[in-house]
Amino acid sequence: MNTAAMFSSKKTDWETPQDFFVRLDEEFHFTLDPAASDENHKCHRYYTKERDGLKRDWQGETVFCNPPYGREIGHWVKKGHMEAHDEKTTVVMLLPARTDTKWFHDHIYGKAEIRFIKGRLKFGNGKGSAPFPSMVVIWR
Ligand SMILES: C[S@@+](CC[C@H](N)C(=O)[O-])C[C@H]1O[C@@H](n2cnc3c(N)ncnc32)[C@H](O)[C@@H]1O
Repeated sequence: MNTAAMFSSKKTDWETPQDFFVRLDEEFHFTLDPAASDENHKCHRYYTKERDGLKRDWQGETVFCNPPYGREIGHWVKKGHMEAHDEKTTVVMLLPARTDTKWFHDHIYGKAEIRFIKGRLKFGNGKGSAPFPSMVVIWR
C-alpha cells in the first residue's frame, strides 16, 4: 500500500471508519448514502459519482454523507443544508473541521449542530490518523 498517497492532502476520498459509522447509525438509523461507490457505500440506498448524488432528491431520507473533500466540498455542504429544510429530512455529514471556510460560515456555523471530534480519525480503517481534524454536522 502506498501510505504516502493514502495520507496525502491531495487525497479527497476518506472512507468513514466502520466503527465510527456504526455508532452514528445506532443513533440516526440512516437510509441514504449519497456520496459513495459500489465498494464503499454505507447504506443500501446510495448514489455514486455516475448517478451524481448532488443532483438527486434527498427528501424524506435520513442521510449519512461523507463527501469528497476536494474543491467540490462546498457544493455538498450547501446541498445538505438545503435538503434539510424539509422537516422529514435529516442530514448528517462527516467533514474536515475547516472553520475558516466560506462553506462553514454560510451553511454550518449557527445553522447546524456541530460535534467536533476529539483526536484524529483513522479513515479507511487504516493504521495512520488523518492529517486534519474532523467534525460531524447535523441539520435536522
Ligand atoms: C469520502 S468518500 C465516502 C465513501 C463512503 N460513502 C464512506 O462514507 O465511507 C466519497 C465518495 O463519494 C463518491 N463521489 C464523488 N462524487 C460523487 C457524486 N457526484 N455523487 C455521488 N458520489 C460521489 C466518491 O467516488 C467516493 O466514493
